[in-house]
Amino acid sequence: MSTPSHSVANISTCCGRRTVLKAAGLVALSGSVGALGACGATSWTTSTDSDATSVPVSKVPVGGGVILGKYVVTQPTDGVFRAFSAVCPHQGCPVGSVADGEVVCPCHNSHFDIADGAPVSGPAQRPLTSVKFTRSDHDIIITT
Ligand code: FES
Repeated sequence: MSTPSHSVANISTCCGRRTVLKAAGLVALSGSVGALGACGATSWTTSTDSDATSVPVSKVPVGGGVILGKYVVTQPTDGVFRAFSAVCPHQGCPVGSVADGEVVCPCHNSHFDIADGAPVSGPAQRPLTSVKFTRSDHDIIITT
């Protein structure tokens, strides 16, 4: 299991101090960044399996996405999937979350559109890199 790339300081923009502290406690107890859903943002999903290359379709929320190790799989609209490298094109940090229709890099707060990876806000000027994938009956499988 890899170490999640988030620090509690990086989520402080979305949460009050108590919520951040509560989330930090949950992370410490669970060892999972998934506990940060306490922020109220939609689709906070982070895999801690850095070698994962597939995800069940049912785990990719419509209008959101899931971070799958080195990749991000999104579902901008029902039944339409996209996959990107999880490496931020700004300075190479791993992106940290998918929330409110955007992939978010915690290092300098760049946001990217889940539909095409285009930069929406923050210092990143280039889009997330698209990666190839296939869809089976039940899974999205990265093939890049
Ligand atoms: S490395 Fe991602 S915003 Fe700077």
